[in-house]
Amino acid sequence: MRVILLGTAAGGGFPQWNCACALCVSDAPPRTQDCVAVSADGEGWYLLNVSPDIRAQILATPPLRAGPGPREIPLRGVLLTDAELDHSLGLLLLREAGGLPVWAPDAVLGALSEQFPARSIIDGYGGWQWLPSSDVSIDGLRVSMLPVSDKRPKYARSSTEDGPWVVAYRIEDVQTGGVFVYAPCLKSWPDGFDDFTRDAGLVLLDGTFYAPDEMSGATAAEVGDGAQLAMGHLPITGSLAKLRPGPRWAYTHLNNTNPVIDPASPEHAAVLAGGASLPLDGKEFKL
Ligand code: MLT
Ligand code: MN
Ligand code: ZN
Repeated sequence: MRVILLGTAAGGGFPQWNCACALCVSDAPPRTQDCVAVSADGEGWYLLNVSPDIRAQILATPPLRAGPGPREIPLRGVLLTDAELDHSLGLLLLREAGGLPVWAPDAVLGALSEQFPARSIIDGYGGWQWLPSSDVSIDGLRVSMLPVSDKRPKYARSSTEDGPWVVAYRIEDVQTGGVFVYAPCLKSWPDGFDDFTRDAGLVLLDGTFYAPDEMSGATAAEVGDGAQLAMGHLPITGSLAKLRPGPRWAYTHLNNTNPVIDPASPEHAAVLAGGASLPLDGKEFKL
């Protein structure tokens, strides 16, 4: 299985367009918004989430570009972990695909019909299929999911759905036995996650925030573990302690406030020392 990280930043990207903080004006490497491509055979590709940067991400990734026929594309489907705009807005940009299967949790499929009616918009451009994430069917890849959070997008506040609103995916290559786990949005280290990742070769984790006090500017003592946990993102300081030998661990969905974005920061060094990596856009793994 080939796994290509198309984007590794949280919503807004890095640098974030509306931010002039020290990090955003530094020369730390830019990152587009979180999105991953996977393929069992290198010919047909599936997107995990579809970022608003998807057009540039596809054009920057040779195996995802159109061809060999003039209107042939290698995309075969989309798996959504959640309904957040940074993970779903790109669906609108794929309308010219003329229809692909999209798998997502039921609450997400509901939000994409009701509060953010992406489904009815792009259904007008072709035969899209909207399918439950509990039932993904892909040749050569065995996919299962684990509900990991009830965090709903701000735009879906009026939804009466309980969720799960967010899932993680475990993708196994039937031939090689390689296993990839994609969990870019974790509210906590969920029940069952150790089992879900047990035989994984690569686990991609929620790296939105480094520490619990990052957004507030207050000290950790002042906010306890409140600020980012309430935003539905387990900070790296919380997940790093849970890593065990075995899989390769890596962080994605880095927010522009996260000091690990600066390769020279002590926080970046602490992640590497803790046994995880901070890959940049374009990084490919083979499993
Ligand atoms: C999140 O991951 O918490 C959301 O994508 C936030 C946002 O709307 O950008
Ligand atoms: Mn996000
Ligand atoms: Zn910034």
